[in-house]
Amino acid sequence: MTRIRRHPYASHTYQLKLVKLNALAIDMDLRTAKRLVGLVGVIMTFCMQTTPYAADVRHGQDLHDQNCLHCHDTSQYTRPNHRIKTLEGLRKQVERCELSLELQWFEEDIEDVVAYLNATYYQFNN
Ligand code: HEC
Repeated sequence: MTRIRRHPYASHTYQLKLVKLNALAIDMDLRTAKRLVGLVGVIMTFCMQTTPYAADVRHGQDLHDQNCLHCHDTSQYTRPNHRIKTLEGLRKQVERCELSLELQWFEEDIEDVVAYLNATYYQFNN
């Protein structure tokens, strides 16, 4: 009886091996990916802690002029008895006014508007 030699790639065990190898490769990729994601997270946290957000005053002015002059004009910021006495107070007030407008600004947008108002009107150092 002649034995038919089958091509080794066609063998069931070989294919199983391939599947296992593939699974291993995917597994490794996932683990590498997870590690990478973790690493990126660590780096981002590090950056966020060490580099304070550099506010964009120009963007702050645009946001302010488009959204914030419905109820009061800028004389509100310079009126003799104006209420805001600190940078933190200014941030709180901007947050309050932004909330009442339901604008859903990002933290950065608030910072930009605070920076714009502070640079232009309040000039607090801290
Ligand atoms: C819904 C009306 C309204 C809108 C819109 C509004 N504000 Fe105000 N804002 C007020 C009122 C009212 C006061 C005065 C509060 C007080 O004197 O107790 C005020 C006060 C302020 C003050 C404090 C002024 C001071 O030094 O006494 C700042 C700063 C301010 N607003 C910023 C903003 C910014 C930034 C926006 C846009 C995100 C904005 N406002 C939009 C109503 C508004």
